[in-house]
Amino acid sequence: MKHLLHEKSDQPEFVCCAVRAAAVGRGLDPITSNYAGVLMITLKLNGQEHPLDVTEDMPLLWAIRDVAGYTGTKFGCGMGLCGSCTVHIDGLPARSCITPVGSVVGQSVATIDNLHSDPVGQAVQQAWLDGGVAQCGFCQGGQIMSATALLKVNPKPSDAQIEEAMIGNICRCGTYNRIKTAIHQAAAHLQEAKA
Ligand code: FES
Ligand code: FES
Repeated sequence: MKHLLHEKSDQPEFVCCAVRAAAVGRGLDPITSNYAGVLMITLKLNGQEHPLDVTEDMPLLWAIRDVAGYTGTKFGCGMGLCGSCTVHIDGLPARSCITPVGSVVGQSVATIDNLHSDPVGQAVQQAWLDGGVAQCGFCQGGQIMSATALLKVNPKPSDAQIEEAMIGNICRCGTYNRIKTAIHQAAAHLQEAKA
């Protein structure tokens, strides 16, 4: 935006100052507002505060990938139906493609990019590697995020509980049995580590 204003105006500094003054006039902080006077959103993402120049209704997935630069979360259906875009919001799995970024301000958002810093996430990722779960791999980030969220609330899930928790994560390669085995394996490793 700043670049466009500078290109299009004969008096760029005047325009920028004028727009900034307008932001102040609207009660916005000129430091945390962009040059159009739109309030920037600060997102708590992967343990860090990220000021993002986005509108509140932008899907969280767009903000995470295209603005914040965390590209581990994948776009699949864009309609909340496949689970490939699953992230954690305050520890719970959520579909980032249908979550407006403005609705999660003040909450903690975590993506697959930083999951290795979480002991449960680390155990799940290791079990995925040990079991050779992925085929094409496209859905697997979302699968791992849902599996990690499950093990955090249920450290020893049954087959039925795994199926119920993972039902919204679709795998077109049909890796469901390997996913189930890997979740049991991660649960067992976490139990052993506790003992
Ligand atoms: S891309 Fe979000 S659920 Fe499919
Ligand atoms: S591994 Fe290919 S879609 Fe799941």
